[in-house]
Amino acid sequence: MERTDSPIDNKSKPEDVAIEGNLRPKRLDSYFGQKLVKDELNIAIRAANKRNDSLDHLLFHGPPGLGKTTLAMIVAEEMGVSIRITSGPAIERAGDLASILTNLQKDDILFIDEIHRLPLSVEEVLYPAMEDFSVDIVLGKGPKAREVRLKINKFTLIGATTRFSLISQPLRDRFGSTHRLDFYNLDDLEKIITQSANALDCVISQKGVIAIAKRSRGTARVANRILRRVRDYALVEENGEIDDRVAGDALERMQIDEFGLDQMDRQLLRALVKDFQGGPVGLDTLAAAISEDSETIMDVYEPYLLKIGFMLRTPKGRVASERAFHHLGYEYNNIQEKKIKSKDAAQSSFLEE
Ligand SMILES: Nc1ncnc2c1ncn2[C@@H]1O[C@H](COP(=O)(O)OP(=O)(O)O)[C@@H](O)[C@H]1O
Ligand SMILES: [Mg+2]
Repeated sequence: MERTDSPIDNKSKPEDVAIEGNLRPKRLDSYFGQKLVKDELNIAIRAANKRNDSLDHLLFHGPPGLGKTTLAMIVAEEMGVSIRITSGPAIERAGDLASILTNLQKDDILFIDEIHRLPLSVEEVLYPAMEDFSVDIVLGKGPKAREVRLKINKFTLIGATTRFSLISQPLRDRFGSTHRLDFYNLDDLEKIITQSANALDCVISQKGVIAIAKRSRGTARVANRILRRVRDYALVEENGEIDDRVAGDALERMQIDEFGLDQMDRQLLRALVKDFQGGPVGLDTLAAAISEDSETIMDVYEPYLLKIGFMLRTPKGRVASERAFHHLGYEYNNIQEKKIKSKDAAQSSFLEE
C-alpha cells in the first residue's frame, strides 16, 4: 500500500476536502464527544448572544483530524456570523494579514489554522488586533514613512494548532480560552460513523460500525475515511451492505490491524524494537531510519502510539513498550525494562507538545 494512500494519515488530503464538507456537522448537537470543550463553548456562545457581543478569542489544539476546523465552523454557525478561513503558512507578509483584518465585518470570526506557523512579523500584527481591535500600518516609503493606527471591527479570532508548545507566550496570553481536543472513545466514534453513513446513504450494521470504530485510532477523520473505503469495497466486492465481516475483510485488505495501526505505524515500531533494541532513540534518528520526516511522525503517528501505550517519550528519546514488543511478536527483555524506568512523566505530557 502506498503511504500517501494510507487511511491512517490523519492530515487532510485533497480527496477529503469536498467530502468532509458534506460530512461536517453544522451544529453543536451533531458534533459528538469532546464534552468538556462543547459545554464550555455552549455557555460562552449563549452568554455572548445574550450580551449581544462577540465571543472571546479561542484557541483549539490537538492532533489532526479531531475536529478543530469543524468546531470553528460550528461556532460561527451558532453565533450567526460569517467566518473567514485562512492558515498560518498562507499568510506570508504582515500586510496580508492587515488587509484581512481591516476587511472583517463586526463580530466576524477569523479562523487561522496551523497558527503556530505564522511568521513572527505577521504574528505581531495580531497582538494589537486581538487586544485593542486596531492595526498599525505604515504609510509611504523611506524617510517619509509613518505608522498610523487604524481601528478595525470587533472580531473573534479562532486559532487551531497541532503543536501547542510552538505557540509563543504573547500569542497564548491573548486568547480568552484554550481548548484541547482529545481522541474520541468508541462510543463517540460509533455515533460519528453512523451519522456519516447516513449522510453517505450507505447501509451498515451496528457491528459493522463497531468494527470500523475500533480501528479508527480515536480520530474522526480516520473513521470517516475508513468508512468511505469500506463502502467502496462493499460496493465492488459485495452487495453494497456493510456488516462486520465485510468491514473486517476490507480493513484487512487495507492492512489495518486490530489496534487501527497501519503499515507505517508497524514499520516505525519495528524499527524502534528491532533496530534500536526498544530505544531510547532520538526522534530524528528514528525518522531517518524509516525515511519519514520527524514532523509527520510527531503529528500523525506518534500521538496515538503514545495514547495506547505502545510508545513512550522519555528525556533520552522514544522507547517501545512491552505491549509493542508483543504486538509485533517479539520477546520483551529486562534491558528494555531498565531503560524504561524513567518513562512515566514523559508519557503523561505527550499531548502538551
Ligand atoms: N465531533 C465530531 N463529530 C462528528 N464529526 C466530526 C467530529 N469531529 C470531526 N468530525 C469530522 O472529522 C473530519 C475531520 O475534522 P476536522 O475538523 O477537519 O479536523 P481538524 O481540523 O482537527 O484536523 C471532518 O469530516 C469532520 O466532519
Ligand atoms: Mg483542520
